[in-house]
Amino acid sequence: MTSETFSPGLDGVIATDTKISLLDTDVEMIIVRGYDLIELAQNLNYTDVAYLVIYGRLPTEAQGREFCETLAEQAEIPDELYRLFELMPKSTVAMDALRTGISFLAGFEDPDLLNDNSHEANLKKGLKLLAQVPALAVNSYRALNDMPFVRPDQSLGYMENFMYMLRGEKPDAVSLDAFDRIHMCYIEHEMPNSTFAARVIASTLADMYGAMVGAVASLKGRLHGGANEAAIEFLLDILKEGGPPRAEAYVMEKLEARARIMGFGHRVYMKKYDPRAKFLMEYIPRLADRVPDGEELASIYNTVEQVMFREKALYPNTDFPIGLLYYELGIPIPLYTPIFLASRTAGNVAHVLEQHDDNRLFRPRVIYSGARDLHPPDKAISPG
Ligand code: CMC
Repeated sequence: MTSETFSPGLDGVIATDTKISLLDTDVEMIIVRGYDLIELAQNLNYTDVAYLVIYGRLPTEAQGREFCETLAEQAEIPDELYRLFELMPKSTVAMDALRTGISFLAGFEDPDLLNDNSHEANLKKGLKLLAQVPALAVNSYRALNDMPFVRPDQSLGYMENFMYMLRGEKPDAVSLDAFDRIHMCYIEHEMPNSTFAARVIASTLADMYGAMVGAVASLKGRLHGGANEAAIEFLLDILKEGGPPRAEAYVMEKLEARARIMGFGHRVYMKKYDPRAKFLMEYIPRLADRVPDGEELASIYNTVEQVMFREKALYPNTDFPIGLLYYELGIPIPLYTPIFLASRTAGNVAHVLEQHDDNRLFRPRVIYSGARDLHPPDKAISPG
């Protein structure tokens, strides 16, 4: 194994052959099952795109209706999950509670189905996860914050029910529309760390639940999905420290201290605009009047973007606008990454299906730079 084949962070390494999606940076397009993701997000809704991602084709009207009915029928989680959430220490991070919830859910699966990695069995498990992750994400957070549970209302559409559980009341049309479009933007994104983690785990023939638990653990990190929470916290810090007039100096100070500004930069887009960020930024002014500090935050957002481009030639990735958009929609910050995971469940289900359908174990090698030719002493060192 030579250093020529070593790429730190697997930068540029091709990990698999997939028919699910590609970031085509030459044309600045995210291709999902042959379609431009932004065109999908402009025209369809989340459940249509989830069907596309999982089944590989858009649904007919009847298939779309049946898909939504299946998700609604399975939206409720076992009572034991509600009890589990009440037992969790209040200091539990929402994303960890979701991770635990998905892991716990595996125990309720029919053991034959759990250990069956056939396409049919994986589809059943995947649809159940897609249906139940919203209730897991919202109600674990509710328990941790002494808020009453809001169980799924199966008479509502998938995204309407998600917002209903978040808010405790049905959403208005504008909020629902924005929430749905953001959810579509997060649905699938080629081979980010969490998708790779899911596929690596699946490649051992571990089950769908295990792969999904690994994906949650990965997505939590601030260099990945956790960036949406860090991005709004950064904007709110600037607001607290003096607001729009202070924004430029604040960013400059952070850059001089060599800090990373979360929500900027991307391994694949590098010096190009993330198409999702470009699409979603238009929603920021439209929703700004929903929170008292919306106009100021929108102004800070613009300044940060300008300074980052001027100083580092870095564009925002999708987590930068989404952090602010979720805030404008009144969503509690610790739920931003769990909601991202809920959206990405469709993508990860598709990747686990694809991995198990044509599996080869992931098992890379290393460049060893440790010691060698050492020998232990002739007798044991410790008393035993
Ligand atoms: N703020 C300041 N400098 C940055 C940033 C940033 N956000 N991103 C990259 N850089 C600089 C970095 O300091 C380095 O500079 P130098 O060469 O002078 O040391 C250079 O750009 C290359 O950085 P890198 O870490 O080697 O690049 P990478 O491809 O390994 O990292 C990244 C990609 C996303 C981890 C990185 O851009 C980053 O840390 N961004 C902030 C976190 C973030 O927004 N993550 C969300 C990613 S997109 C959505 C998702 O997947 O969830």
